[in-house]
Amino acid sequence: MAGMLAGKVVLVTGAGGGIGRDFALAMAAQGAKVVVNDIGASLSGEGKDAGPAQKVVEEIKAQGGTAVANTDSVAEWESANHIVRTALGAFGRIDCVVNNAGILRDRFFFNMSVEEWKAVIDVHLNGTFYVSRAAAPHFKSQGSGCYVNMTSTSGLIGNLGQANYSAAKLGIVGLSKSMALDMAKYKVRSNCIAPFAWSRMIGSIPTETEDQKARVEKLKSMHTAKIAPLAVYLASDAAAEVSGQIFGVRANELFLFSQHRPIRSVHRAGGWTPEAIAEQAIPALRAQFYPLERSQDVFSWDPI
Ligand code: NAI
Repeated sequence: MAGMLAGKVVLVTGAGGGIGRDFALAMAAQGAKVVVNDIGASLSGEGKDAGPAQKVVEEIKAQGGTAVANTDSVAEWESANHIVRTALGAFGRIDCVVNNAGILRDRFFFNMSVEEWKAVIDVHLNGTFYVSRAAAPHFKSQGSGCYVNMTSTSGLIGNLGQANYSAAKLGIVGLSKSMALDMAKYKVRSNCIAPFAWSRMIGSIPTETEDQKARVEKLKSMHTAKIAPLAVYLASDAAAEVSGQIFGVRANELFLFSQHRPIRSVHRAGGWTPEAIAEQAIPALRAQFYPLERSQDVFSWDPI
């Protein structure tokens, strides 16, 4: 099949539904051979169902594309390796890993259990490491490859009740940058996407008040398929110069996010004491403090 990804093999994790399913369909439509990975878990990560991944494979085949299903978990090293081996076994190579699989276990920090913490870190942060690391030797030896990693404004900005998720998602930003730096000399690229999309992941938002109902109606305009064109572009050779970046997509808006840099400094010839910090440093720095904002405070306008 001709297209921007002709000849490439793309592995999309968590591609049985939501954003990942649209990634798999769009990659295949652009000529990629696709590994559709999904364990078919519930939103909180429980259970296993081979159906969703296989169903997406059938959809791709019905449109004349090429795909295989894989139902291994990203959250363990051995099974993550098996996902990558599925690509090599079926198609003989691997060109792009899209780290998209995810779960939620929302709870206020002061009530969060160790189990809730670990489950989310395992799928998002550890899963991104495991699958990426398993593909790395192949990328290195062929002198090409790319990672597309899903982050979230819950990590980049902040959100209530998501300590596990925001820590994992900001961890993925650091991991993505490290992969971009460590593998640049092998022409391997790594970028992040922070999506905004109406999927089951945000379908769990309560809709009791009129305000909440109105907000959810707006969120429904953020179709999951709107994220896919950016992922396809990043996976293609057209993005050969693009690495180490953090993008966002919300309906028809595309964003490039800033990255942490010092924004103001103060210097004191004799060095600092706690008292001097209170009297001089903080008053000078305070003007640049960030308010305690959540994602929705920063993205304060409706999706376009
Ligand atoms: P979703 O819940 O519809 O899809 C996630 C998929 O991952 C599911 O099909 C699930 O079965 C699969 N999965 C879960 N654990 C897995 C495991 N251990 N191994 C393999 N597959 C596994 O969620 P959605 O909304 O499509 O999210 C996709 C990605 O985008 C996630 O990484 C999410 O954190 C991120 N994201 C989504 C946002 C949104 O607005 N929907 C906002 C910010 C980030």
